[in-house]
Amino acid sequence: MASLTVRQLDERIKKRLRLRAARNGRSVEDEVRTILREAAEPSGNEAAEPPAPPSATSARRAHPAPAAGVKRVLLIVGGGIAAYKSLDLIRRLKERGLAVRCILTKAAEHFVTPLSAGAIVGERVFTDLFDAASEFDVGHIRLARDADLIVVAPATADLMAKMAGGHADDLATAVLLATNAKILLAPAMNPRMWSHKATQRNLAQLAADGVALVGPNEGEMAEAGERGLGRMAEPLEIAAAVERLLAGAVQTLKGKRVLITSGPTHEPIDPVRYIANRSSGKQGHAIAAAASAAGAEVVLVSGPVNLPDPHGVSVVHVETARDMLQAVERALPADVAIFAAAVADWRVANAGEQKIKKKPGQRTPDLPLIENPDILATIAQRKAQRPELVIGFAAETENVAANAKDKLARKGCDWILANDVSPQTGIMGGDRNTIQLVTAAGIEAWPPQSKEDVAAMLIARIADRINGDKA
Ligand code: C5P
Repeated sequence: MASLTVRQLDERIKKRLRLRAARNGRSVEDEVRTILREAAEPSGNEAAEPPAPPSATSARRAHPAPAAGVKRVLLIVGGGIAAYKSLDLIRRLKERGLAVRCILTKAAEHFVTPLSAGAIVGERVFTDLFDAASEFDVGHIRLARDADLIVVAPATADLMAKMAGGHADDLATAVLLATNAKILLAPAMNPRMWSHKATQRNLAQLAADGVALVGPNEGEMAEAGERGLGRMAEPLEIAAAVERLLAGAVQTLKGKRVLITSGPTHEPIDPVRYIANRSSGKQGHAIAAAASAAGAEVVLVSGPVNLPDPHGVSVVHVETARDMLQAVERALPADVAIFAAAVADWRVANAGEQKIKKKPGQRTPDLPLIENPDILATIAQRKAQRPELVIGFAAETENVAANAKDKLARKGCDWILANDVSPQTGIMGGDRNTIQLVTAAGIEAWPPQSKEDVAAMLIARIADRINGDKA
């Protein structure tokens, strides 16, 4: 029998073979074996053809309408190094039963190819506003209208600027301008580009236009030695944000005022040194975002964090525990107060007015500590203007539930969210959390989940309680 290797096939067939193999999750060799087996024993159960080259009728077959009830996500991939994560994002969205379509900007094609994205999406991706074939097939207006949600990931500084300015000079921006669907941005850029006034101005405009945001996160940049705020959110985080947006935020806290503390406090030793802790503020900020999405008027009193202010939330930035207490008291009255901040228990009693000097032969400075005000207990025990529901956190490293129950009584609050923050859990500064909700009625263990999911679950419980569905 004559032998034939894949290498001898012509380029067009090789390309279609590779595409078909990728779609079926097989190696090219296995795909060839499958094709030969199917040809030898026709089963009537052959794998679907790869997308045909676009023509008026075949292209329509390549873009079947999703089944009734299936939500449609249009993913726009911008041109940044984080674009490689978008391929994983497509998988994550499909795993959740969503119908995914994909547009690559011209810049994105430098990082991922239409072939690789198309192989994962399972249909060809869209790249060109003036491509007669795709206009004939789907068209930018249909792309815009057919989506329940548009996700831009990575959203580059340039793409955000174009969106804020209402540009429509390529397929991605034309679709973004033509859509009525909710838009979710996952920004990714160098920290200096992110913090640039122009980007922040565009971001404020986009937030005012109702665009939702996930990330960016703090961390290493692609450029060696660079780190900061600007990493694209991870695909799982983006997929969770997509699910939340598609579920539709019901305005369960409309008309309610919610006060939240978040992050660490910094307690000065002298004008340049301070005592701090490892709190990232992720949990408190996620709760503020969830409360705002549920329609509440939110005041977030935040210690120093590397997180953007959540949209639609009024943020008061503070440094010390005493500043935080003052800001909280000023923000009253509130219907609900949630104390997620990791407030320093102590401050240096005699913080220096000037930098403490290290002098040869001199003994190390004495830094006596005094207790900070307990903000949670102060508010929970107020006679006037006590919020209807006062919620604290208990970050413990041992006897989590028992210590939390004790804290509930001692501080006089209504609920405590207890979590184990011993180093091996990775909770402090991490993205996930495992909560036990302690109330007068008992202890309820929540599953390990993202801090956003903890926030959503907490807001749902608060709404039940405030709206009278549960004791
Ligand atoms: O006593 P402990 O620090 O474990 O209590 C944790 C809870 O109390 C958290 O909700 C935290 O925000 C709050 N707290 C506070 N002011 C302090 C210390 C803790 O509001 N000084």
